[in-house]
Amino acid sequence: MIGQQYLLLPGPTPIPDRVLRAMNRPMINHRGPEFRDILNEVSRGVKAIYGTEHRLLIYPSSGTGVLEAAVVNFISPGDKVLAVSIGVFGDRFANIAKNFGAQVEKIGFKWGEAADPNLIQDILQKDKDKQIKAVLITHNETSTGAYNDIEAVKKAMLDHPALLMVDCVSGLGALEFKMDDWGVDVALSGSQKAFMIPPGLGFMAFSDRALEIHRNNTNHRYYWDVTSGLNYLEKGQTAFTPAISLFYGLQEALVMMAEEGLHNIINRHRNYRDMVRQALGELGLELLAADQHASTALTAVLAPGGSGANKIRSKMLNRYNIALAGGQLELDDVMFRIGHLGYVRELDLVAVIAALEITLLESGFKIELGAGVNKAQQYILALNTKN
Ligand SMILES: Cc1ncc(COP(=O)(O)O)c(C=O)c1O
Repeated sequence: MIGQQYLLLPGPTPIPDRVLRAMNRPMINHRGPEFRDILNEVSRGVKAIYGTEHRLLIYPSSGTGVLEAAVVNFISPGDKVLAVSIGVFGDRFANIAKNFGAQVEKIGFKWGEAADPNLIQDILQKDKDKQIKAVLITHNETSTGAYNDIEAVKKAMLDHPALLMVDCVSGLGALEFKMDDWGVDVALSGSQKAFMIPPGLGFMAFSDRALEIHRNNTNHRYYWDVTSGLNYLEKGQTAFTPAISLFYGLQEALVMMAEEGLHNIINRHRNYRDMVRQALGELGLELLAADQHASTALTAVLAPGGSGANKIRSKMLNRYNIALAGGQLELDDVMFRIGHLGYVRELDLVAVIAALEITLLESGFKIELGAGVNKAQQYILALNTKN
C-alpha cells in the first residue's frame, strides 16, 4: 500500500522522523559521562511535562511495569488502598496492588464516565483512623476515552494523608497534568503515547512524602527499588542497563515538545478532540464518553447498530491503511477507538473521518457522505480565523 500507515491508536503513536533519526546512533557507555548528560537532560525535560520538581526515575519498561514499581515501593502488604476505576486500566492498577498484598477497596464507575470526587471524599471521611494509605486512580482511561479530574480528586481528599497515586500513562502530555500544583504524590507514565517515541520507557515521578513512605516500605522488589534507583541517579546513571536508543529518541522528542510548548501541545490535543467529536456527532455516531469528561487523547466510538466495530476497523486497515484500536473486554466489537495523541496532524484525522464515512456507507449505514469531513473543515477554519 502506498505511503505510511495512519497509526491512530492510543499508543503506540507515530514517531517523528527527527526522533527516528536521533535513535539511529551508535551505543555509548551507559556508565559514562555522555549518558550522564543525556539522563540529566531528559530527566529535566520529562519533569517539566509532569510539572514536578520532585524525583523521577526512568525504567526500561512498559507502562504496566511502572504501575507495579509504584505499588512495590509505596504500598506495603496489608496496607488499605482505595482504588478508583473507570475502566480497564483502573482495574489493572487495583489488581497489581492486590497481587502485592494490599487490602484493596475498589470503587468502580460506569465505563465512559469519570470518577465522582464526592464519593472518594465520603469514603476517606469515614476512614477516621486513617487506615487508607493510598488512593489509586487513572488520569486518562484509555479503554473508554474518559478522563478523571485529578485536581478535584486531590481537593476532595481534604486532609486525608493517603498518597495520591496516578496512572497518567496515556494522559501525560496530551491532557493537562500539574503534579506539584495539584499535590499528586506518585505519577506513572510511558514513552509510547504523547512522548512520540517507541514503547519501552516507563516514568515514575514521586514526591518527598512518597519517598518517606518508601523508606519504611516492606514490599518485595529488586528491579524496581527506588532507593537503588536514586543512588545510581546521583551518579548520573540508572540502576540497570538503560534502553539507550530510546533515551536518544526521548532527548529529541523533548526538544520538539519544548519547541511547540506544553501549553500549545495540550491545546492542540483539545482541538483534535473537539474536532473529531463534532465530526462524528454530525455523522450521528454515538461516543462512549460524555463531553464533560471526554479525553483529549482518544475518542471511543460505538459501532452503529451495537456491534461490528472490528469489521469497520479491518475495512479501514485493509482499504486505507488506517490502524484504529478496538474495544477492550466487554466492549470488544462494540466500539472502536481513534487515537489522536502525539505526533498526529489535524489532516490525518480528517482523512480518518473521510475513510470512515465511505466505510460506513459501504457497510449499509445511512450517513451523509461529506458531513463529518465538512464539520471538521469548518472546525479548522474557525480555529484558523480565531488564531
Ligand atoms: C492508562 C494506561 N495505563 C497503563 C497502560 C499500560 O501500559 P503498557 O501497555 O505500556 O504496559 C496503558 C496502556 O495503554 C494505559 O493506557
